[in-house]
Formats: sequence, structure tokens, C-alpha cells
Amino acid sequence: MSDFRVPTLTRRAFLVSTAVVSAGATLPLQSIARAAGIREFRLRAGPGRAQIAPDPYSDTAVWCYDGSLPGPEIRVRQGERLRIAVENALDEETTVHWHGVRVPNGMDGVPHLTQAPIAPGKTFTYEFDAVDAGTFWYHPHHRSFEQVGRGLYGPLIVEEADAVQVDRDVTWVLSDWRLTKTAEMREDFGNRHDMMHNGRVGNTVTINGRVPDAFPVRKGERIRLRLINAANARIFGLDFGSHEPVVVALDGQPVAPHAPEGGLVVLGPAMRADIILDMTADARSRASVTDRFYKDLEYRLVDFAYEDEPLRDKAPDWPVVLPANPLPEPDLASATRHELTFNGGMMGAMVMQEMGGSMGDMGEDSSGAMDGMMGNMGGMMNMMHSSGIWFINGVAAEGHIMDPMLTLARDKSHVIAMTNATAWHHPIHLHGHSFRVMSRNGKPTRHREWQDTVLMSPRERVEIAFVANNPGDWMFHCHILEHQAAGMMGVFRVA
Ligand code: C2O
Ligand code: CU
Repeated sequence: MSDFRVPTLTRRAFLVSTAVVSAGATLPLQSIARAAGIREFRLRAGPGRAQIAPDPYSDTAVWCYDGSLPGPEIRVRQGERLRIAVENALDEETTVHWHGVRVPNGMDGVPHLTQAPIAPGKTFTYEFDAVDAGTFWYHPHHRSFEQVGRGLYGPLIVEEADAVQVDRDVTWVLSDWRLTKTAEMREDFGNRHDMMHNGRVGNTVTINGRVPDAFPVRKGERIRLRLINAANARIFGLDFGSHEPVVVALDGQPVAPHAPEGGLVVLGPAMRADIILDMTADARSRASVTDRFYKDLEYRLVDFAYEDEPLRDKAPDWPVVLPANPLPEPDLASATRHELTFNGGMMGAMVMQEMGGSMGDMGEDSSGAMDGMMGNMGGMMNMMHSSGIWFINGVAAEGHIMDPMLTLARDKSHVIAMTNATAWHHPIHLHGHSFRVMSRNGKPTRHREWQDTVLMSPRERVEIAFVANNPGDWMFHCHILEHQAAGMMGVFRVA
């Protein structure tokens, strides 16, 4: 642990977060961290059983942390240092990735790239500062399509020193499962059909590991609801009916409070939203939350059940703006631009087969003819000779060790223009940084939201911008875990 590097962003974080420690700016980093406190945790990854489906179904064999589904909520204050010993009680290797937390590279939990995987029976201790306040989560990064899919994940909440006032702060970890008729786990993890299509979308949706019953609320109550999508592949589009959610943070990062577009809180896999919900219906009434993301597949997720006694007559008028996190602002004028094109999947594979047929006659020297179609010939040849299904700039990744697809000058601003040339949605995640979502299909976004995972619609072009201030090799991948496993992954090197 002694060779562990503290990134420069940590210093800025403490300048902001330790307003109470007035001499903070002049203290060396380590002692500031001590002053802010070290919080110790243990997590044990292992097999367990959980009552996912309601009675009379039996419980289901899962893999989970500390025997609970989801794993225990780790809750710290901004500026504290976390020390988390992870014990591996599985029969296979694992790691833990702290999704969305701007950790030093060696603490990022990517097997082989940032650490040796944790062998069965072994323990690895992670240690990093809670630089940003917000809603984060943790999960393995080793064979995650199966390890996450079986239940290994949990929430990580970093509280603001100065949080918005609410009556209740509630976390909903959303997920889904593919269960048999007797509520056993369907064992078809990583099958080729899921990989080529929209991933392992399950048939049973849960909140905090259980098919939800009603959620009790009181009239007049204000709730901060932290939504985390921990599903492998399912995208949620939550409609709160007559209630009017106000989005105050996305992927942990504060955003100008706003009503969600079209009234739906949309969360691709790995994405989070903090919403402020005023419970405005009448005592003893019921109101449903409906998931409307997939057309013609709407279902009622859960009901709010109002208790007999109101808490107050009408919603409080407390402010809802969260304090900003210490993120460096990208400078668009000086930013370096990079282009990435995402290809593949079912449609893509058919195109490739057809082209593969004609390619035989054409030979390599007629590559020019194909340029417009595929972007570049080298990439295309890779696609044809690879067993991968999904590609970024023509390359399908295998495993976690690879040459960087981009090398980003450290402490400089970068714009990544991403084109989704597939017929599918992809939630694209970058490790070690948060980025601003600048535009979609050439149109500036309304909130220039900070995200660590951005959902791209089919054929959509999305531009993101950030300062590459966290040195190291960072994963960049689709968070539909079957797409990631089938090649939609790469490494950005910040140096
Ligand atoms: Cu949530 Cu690379 O992961
Ligand atoms: Cu994808």
C-alpha cells in the first residue's frame, strides 16, 4: 500500500471539502487525510441465498457480499478515506471496482490492468479518498457478466458536508434476474445470443434484491431517492405518475435541478440518479411507479402506499441544489479531439458476413472502396478476423490487457466524439474520471451533465469532454456486461 499514488485531484477535493479545517490548504495530503478520518470496512464475496422472488417461491442461490443482496451500503462523508478489505470466498478470482469514484489507478479493481485478481481465499485491501460526494456503487470487474449477474454489487454513498434537507434518504438498487419457474438462477450466463443482442435482460425485476412490495410513504414527506441501476443489461425508464421527481444528481454528480425529459428517469446499466420526491398524494392512497423504457413492455415496478397520518399538509420549500464536486472544467477551445466509432452486434455481424463473402474476390488492395463504409480498412480487417462481436474503432477487446486505444495528455482537456453505428443502446463508461456530456447529434445538451456512464441511443452521436487529470490506464467500455465481454471495451492511457 505504500507505493500507492495519490492523484492530484485529491488535493483539490480537500480544499473544497474541508472548509472546517481552515489550515487545510497548507497541510501535506496525508495528514489532511488523517484529519478527515479513515473509515475501515470489510467485504466478503461469496455464495449465498436470497429471497428474490416473493413467497411462495423458495430463495435463490446467488453470489453476494457479506451474505446480503445487495451488498452492504458503504456510507462515508466526503473527504474521508476508505480502507476496504475484500475477502474472496468464491471459487474463482475476483476484484472490486468502485464505479464512478475517482480513485488512484492502482485502486480501480481491474484485473491484470491495475491489480492481480484476488485469488480464492485471499484478501486485497483497497484504499482511497472519497473525493466526490454522491451516489456510487461497487462490483467485480472480473467476469462481471456472471459475477455481477449473480448478485455481486452494493451501493457506496458519499455524503455532502452540506447535504440538501430531506425527511428520508433512501437508496434503491435496481436489478433484474433471469429465473426459472422455480426461482432458480438460469445458468445461461454469457450465451452468444445475449452477447449479440441487448444482453442478459432478466424476467424478474428487484429493488434492493427483492421483488418489491409496496413502499410506505407519508403525505408531505420529502425523500431523496438514490437510484442505482445494477442490472447487467436492462435499461429503466421510470415514470413516477402524478409525482414529479426533480433530478438533482446524475452518476453521483450534482446537476441543475430539473424535471426529467419526457417525465421519465432513464437509467442505463451502471447509471445513477438522485431525485427529490415530494409525496403529494392523499393519505391512505396508492400510486404506482411504472417502468416504461421498452416499448409495449411497461410494467408496474412498485406502489407508494400512503400511511394514515400525513407528515405535513404540503411539500416543504427547502432548497434542492447540491454543492458542486471538485471537478476540473474542460477547456473546449484548447481540447484535443478524438473520434470513436462503435460497431457490431446482430445487424453488424450480418453486414460483416456479407462483406466477408465479397471481400475474398476483392483482395486487400481494393480497400479504398470500403473506406466510407467502415471508417478504416485496418479496423475492418480486424473485425473480420476477430471472434469478437462488438468493436470500437474496429477493434474487439479480449481480456483486460490491451494496447491503449487512446493516449490522453495528462491535465489537458479532451473531447471524445462517439458515434454509435449499431442498432442498439450502449451505456458507455469511463473509469477514473467524470465527463461532461456536451452534445447529442450535434445539439448541445441542456445541463452539460457530468456523468461517468453515458447512454447512447442507436445511431446516436454523443460528445463528451473532460480534463484527463488522473494518470494511469483506464477502462472504457459498454456497461451492458455481455457487450463488454464480447469486445466493446478499450483502454485510455492518461500520461
Ligand atoms: Cu462499473 Cu468498468 O465498470
Ligand atoms: Cu453495449
